[in-house]
Amino acid sequence: MIYIAPSLLAADFTRLGEDTARIEAAGADFLHLDVMDGIFVPNISFGPAVIGALRPQSKLVFDVHLMITAPERYVDRFIKAGADIISFHLEACEDPAALIKTIKAAGVKAAVAISPDTPAEAIIPYLADVDMALIMTVYPGFGGQKFMADMLPKIKAVREYVDKNSLDCLIQVDGGIDVATAPLVSAAGANVLVAGSAVFHADDAKKKIADIRSAAANNLYK
Ligand code: DX5
Ligand code: ZN
Repeated sequence: MIYIAPSLLAADFTRLGEDTARIEAAGADFLHLDVMDGIFVPNISFGPAVIGALRPQSKLVFDVHLMITAPERYVDRFIKAGADIISFHLEACEDPAALIKTIKAAGVKAAVAISPDTPAEAIIPYLADVDMALIMTVYPGFGGQKFMADMLPKIKAVREYVDKNSLDCLIQVDGGIDVATAPLVSAAGANVLVAGSAVFHADDAKKKIADIRSAAANNLYK
């Protein structure tokens, strides 16, 4: 099963409610919400108030991607705002195991994310405890960047470990995903595809989501 997670970062910020409803009607599975603090990444986006305002308007799975330093400081705020999944960066957190526990104790799914310079080995010790692993396929901070094909072996290494140990862990990729790159990441073992610009800037978001989904589904990891 392939899940498509459009990133709200590529929406029209004057029309977040309408754009959320538009991609929900277009068949999105998750709404990917990129939170940036201007410290962990050189950009600032939005925080829990915006997510909390959108929550009652949508039934989508709210997939909150925290690109913030010391995420443990703010995780409660995102839980209260209505996150269904919270991912935080291993590079940004001192005690990932404790934060995974905090998130799961609140009944929210926990995910760990790694930036391009962090190897697969760093995330392996957490895979048994998380619901999802997020492998960045661009340097975090901005939408619209070029997909990094050199991340494919990392995706495959994580997929091999998850399968070998029969873990219940989704594998998400984020950055530069479109119809051309979707089959590459699905063949490597990813099953949750974040797509910001590709979906929100498409003339027909429904067709774009369907095309990305089928491009991935026709080229699955085996
Ligand atoms: C980058 C964000 C991504 C970004 C993806 O820091 O984590 O979610 O919005 O955007 P596209 O799909 O345009 O590469
Ligand atoms: Zn993201």
